[in-house]
Amino acid sequence: MVSLSFAPIYFDYNATTPVDERVLEAMLPYFSTRYGNASSRHEYGRVALAALEKAREQVASAVGAHPTEVIFTSGGSEANNLFLKGAGASFRGAAAGNKAETVVIGATEHLCVLNAARQLRGQGWRLAQLPVDGGGRIRPADVEAAAREKPRRWSVMLANNETGVIQDIASLAATVQAVGPDCGWFHTDAVQALGKIPINFRALNAAGVHALTISAHKAYGPKGAAALIMDKRLDLMTQIAGGGQERGLRSGTENIAAIVGFGAACELAVSRLKARAKAQTVLRTRLEIRLGEMGATVFGMGVPRLPNTCFFAFPSVDGETLVGKLDRSGFAIASGSACSSAKSAPSHVLLAMGVPDELARCAARVSMGEKTKPAEIEGFLLALQETATKLSRFAANTRL
Ligand SMILES: Cc1ncc(COP(=O)(O)O)c(C=O)c1O
Repeated sequence: MVSLSFAPIYFDYNATTPVDERVLEAMLPYFSTRYGNASSRHEYGRVALAALEKAREQVASAVGAHPTEVIFTSGGSEANNLFLKGAGASFRGAAAGNKAETVVIGATEHLCVLNAARQLRGQGWRLAQLPVDGGGRIRPADVEAAAREKPRRWSVMLANNETGVIQDIASLAATVQAVGPDCGWFHTDAVQALGKIPINFRALNAAGVHALTISAHKAYGPKGAAALIMDKRLDLMTQIAGGGQERGLRSGTENIAAIVGFGAACELAVSRLKARAKAQTVLRTRLEIRLGEMGATVFGMGVPRLPNTCFFAFPSVDGETLVGKLDRSGFAIASGSACSSAKSAPSHVLLAMGVPDELARCAARVSMGEKTKPAEIEGFLLALQETATKLSRFAANTRL
């Protein structure tokens, strides 16, 4: 068995979370005694089907949706792709014909939205990106202007994975609705919001949001289960053809153990939300006061953000070098979104916020979790101060 040679303090909960022990306990029987296929017409199958439908109720209830609005997928990336590549596919209205269809996304979306939209562009779609202000927020005036072009699909994230910045999705969707009918299907990526801030699909739906994505592994559930929550009026094109599972939208034998874990994690996400948010706000405030004293810039400061997330930079201290040094000192933080951390390009999120390229290259992210303790933050601050001071001295000397 490969084990960690040492266990750094984990500050990368926006990349993924550990599976909560209660979630694991709920999942275990579905690997051993309850291993049936939910499509089978015998007792094993019925047990699996009952577990699948219970999880659907738990997931729906956590986000204020109806169980029939839940489509299980393998991950948030798949759910986002399912919407972007298939929403309104049967539409044959005014926008069809000679004029290219338009897809609108936020400039700071996760790469799975950005790259799915780029694929659409490769197929002849027009891709419009909503700019953000210096705080990372989308301006309603830009949404209104985009809506006048009568786009077919929208995807605007609820909370950003790098900065934690929260968009006022209900009001942005209402802005689209106010422009008039035929302004397209509106989706929000709520992957980073689950368990951190309340999510109410019913209220969002009333404002004009038609679909929403959540993912288990960002909220103490397992990898391999997520959901697209969708308004039943939304016609979606099947992405995986086969036996017709999940209303025919994505066939394949359901990953029952992971879905059971997702259901259990969703229950915890709701019951633990207030306590998590309160504790993490206190820790983050302490962290950011010290960061300010040390001369760091905190991105998205002063705008609504997820309570657990702090994205910061020390001018002239390279973010990836900082992450590497802190890893060796016993702290696991991120230099950007996990999916792009192998690349050394500066964060597209920060560039969209108008952060200069040189400062964006210095960015590092701390994302806290349920088990993060005040003493861990204090230990981190000491290590950070020492490391950042050494690195900035080194940078100053090499410039001489
Ligand atoms: C905002 C956001 N959307 C989508 C995803 C993709 O979710 P998954 O890892 O479940 O595919 C992530 C993962 O980092 C994310 O942070």
